[in-house]
Amino acid sequence: MFARQRTLIGLDIGSAVVKAVELSLDKETITLTGYGSAPVAGADNVEHAIREALNKGKIHSKRVATSVSGRKVVVRYFPVESGLNPQQLDEVVRNKAPDFVPFNLDEVEMDYYPVTLPEPTGDLASKVVLVAAKTEEIENRVRVLRSAGLVPDLIDIDTFALSNAFELWAANNGISITKKIIALVDIGFIKTTIGILHTGVSNFSREVYIGTNDMRQAIAKRFSFQDAEAESLLVNPGDSYDAVRDAIQNVLEDIGNEIRLSIDFYENQFETEVNEIYVSGGVTRFPDLVEILGQIFFLPTNQWNPAQGMNVAPGVDEEALFREAAQLPIAVGLASRLRKKV
Ligand SMILES: Nc1ncnc2c1ncn2[C@@H]1O[C@H](COP(=O)(O)OP(=O)(O)OP(=O)(O)O)[C@@H](O)[C@H]1O
Ligand SMILES: [Mg+2]
Repeated sequence: MFARQRTLIGLDIGSAVVKAVELSLDKETITLTGYGSAPVAGADNVEHAIREALNKGKIHSKRVATSVSGRKVVVRYFPVESGLNPQQLDEVVRNKAPDFVPFNLDEVEMDYYPVTLPEPTGDLASKVVLVAAKTEEIENRVRVLRSAGLVPDLIDIDTFALSNAFELWAANNGISITKKIIALVDIGFIKTTIGILHTGVSNFSREVYIGTNDMRQAIAKRFSFQDAEAESLLVNPGDSYDAVRDAIQNVLEDIGNEIRLSIDFYENQFETEVNEIYVSGGVTRFPDLVEILGQIFFLPTNQWNPAQGMNVAPGVDEEALFREAAQLPIAVGLASRLRKKV
């Protein structure tokens, strides 16, 4: 009865769909205790969509982790001398920040953490991951969370959440990622996020502004449909499957080219090879999309289910959870931060 159980909601406020996943931690065990999603019909509706997602997921806890992304957020990886104490590191980061952050430093919130990564030579290099987000962006998020009756606990960024969910999934399923270089690709409505995990450590992050919104437009054009009709055809192609797949092929190739550019850049910089790609995002639920992407990426491409291998509380609709799972990694990764906090 007095067992310490901690609970955190991961809230992925996407541009098309709000996803909420509640995780609870009891000793070392993480259990998924709720999830729900709701469409965002317009910017004014975000708060409403959050409430709806929580209601659908029967989520009643209040502490929440969410993320910011987009053009008002930057993530930079840069090398630092090894062996610095925290104070020295802080000074180095403050001195270097103006070179890396394309905003007025008075208008951003910054955070950073040190990482150690293998160099092409095999030596270990000390690096810092610096994140800077426009203060107004963070304040907007906090305001929307509070007005939805929630208690903001932490604000993360999409790529870190994606990486954290992936690490958790790998651990839950006995998959070793420490000897591999893995690209995580999340295709959203407005944007596609790519993160590269080098021996399990996040070492690259980029956003490309191509997503299902462009697919929807391509379908609308092909079928002379309104946006809403085009959207439902993408989600339920039925007999028009071949035509829909044809219509979105160019957008998928555009995404593929951008991903390829990022991977080439990474491989050249680190004189290494990306081994595999793991894709997520709503559209990866489209039948055979993962195979189609694999042909475009020209690398082994897999789908993953962030809930696979995780304890799921009774009362959670597991079938629906698994059906929607491709869309949930960021929400899971956000909630998984409950492991790292007291
Ligand atoms: N079964 C499905 N088949 C094809 N597409 C689907 C399916 N389910 C959802 N989608 C698409 O996924 C999109 C939403 O994906 P997702 O939730 O990953 O985006 P988002 O996180 O809101 O966007 P962003 O990350 O750009 O802010 C919807 O617009 C829809 O077109
Ligand atoms: Mg998204």
